[in-house]
Amino acid sequence: MLMDTIGDPEYQFICQLVHHHSGIYLGPDKKELVTMRVAKRLRHLGIPDYESYCEMLRTTMNKREIPELLDVISTNFTNFFREMKHFEFLKKSVLTPFATQLNGTKKEFSVWSAACSSGEEAYSIAVFLAENFANYPQCDWHVEASDISTRMLLKAERGVYAAKRVELPKSGWLRKYFQIGVNQWAGYYRVKKEIRSRVHFHHLNLLQAEFPFSSKFQVIFCRNVLIYFDRDTQRDLILKLANYLLPGGYLLVGHSESLTGIQHNLQVVRPSIYQKPLK
Ligand SMILES: C[S@@+](CC[C@H](N)C(=O)[O-])C[C@H]1O[C@@H](n2cnc3c(N)ncnc32)[C@H](O)[C@@H]1O
Repeated sequence: MLMDTIGDPEYQFICQLVHHHSGIYLGPDKKELVTMRVAKRLRHLGIPDYESYCEMLRTTMNKREIPELLDVISTNFTNFFREMKHFEFLKKSVLTPFATQLNGTKKEFSVWSAACSSGEEAYSIAVFLAENFANYPQCDWHVEASDISTRMLLKAERGVYAAKRVELPKSGWLRKYFQIGVNQWAGYYRVKKEIRSRVHFHHLNLLQAEFPFSSKFQVIFCRNVLIYFDRDTQRDLILKLANYLLPGGYLLVGHSESLTGIQHNLQVVRPSIYQKPLK
């Protein structure tokens, strides 16, 4: 089946649809990328051209296709302990002071990995909390993790990763926190149950007016997703996320993302690290 570049009207239609449903902004420079990614859906569905695909999307009967389209359009790249500086900051400025102030009292510590993709970020946080709170059983920690992509969430929930994708800051953490696959699972590692049980995955669109969490977080990781949104969507999201932070809590965005030029109520701690004021 021959698939040409997507036509302008179809490209406009797909861009608007994707923006409306996910906030992802696709400029004119993304046409080739979108053509390639949408071609996957055409092949999968046996649809001959982009016009027919758009026609199918327009019919109300085909609302089920929109999540599939978002899945192929969104970039899901991630890895374990990505942007390590955030973890170093977390240890020094958040986890150690929190643990030493516990003084035997039971307290909850919760982190949200918003836009968690296939789970590597959420499990990195969980492994890191397990390490840093190992001597503080009174600390009841957990990680909430969410993404718009159901395909990524399925992978995340399974917690199985190709061995070559699992790079950890300390070699000892591999056997401590992962099961090493044997026989048909050789070459794969699975996050151990004690870590998986602390991480809860949710299907969530960051454009939603509200998020389904009844308590607030000490830390929110919202990394490497803001870059796909336009300025207005970024601003609305930052204001919403701030409502889900405890006073003094931190918002971490990707190293290449910046809130410069966005009006928000957070204090800049250093590039890509923001704190909600105590009052
Ligand atoms: C590049 S990955 C970032 C993963 C991880 N945070 C990291 O930094 O490695 C971006 C993720 O954002 C998700 N995403 C895009 N738009 C979204 C939206 N509107 N709501 C929730 N997640 C979204 C994508 O599905 C993708 O998994």
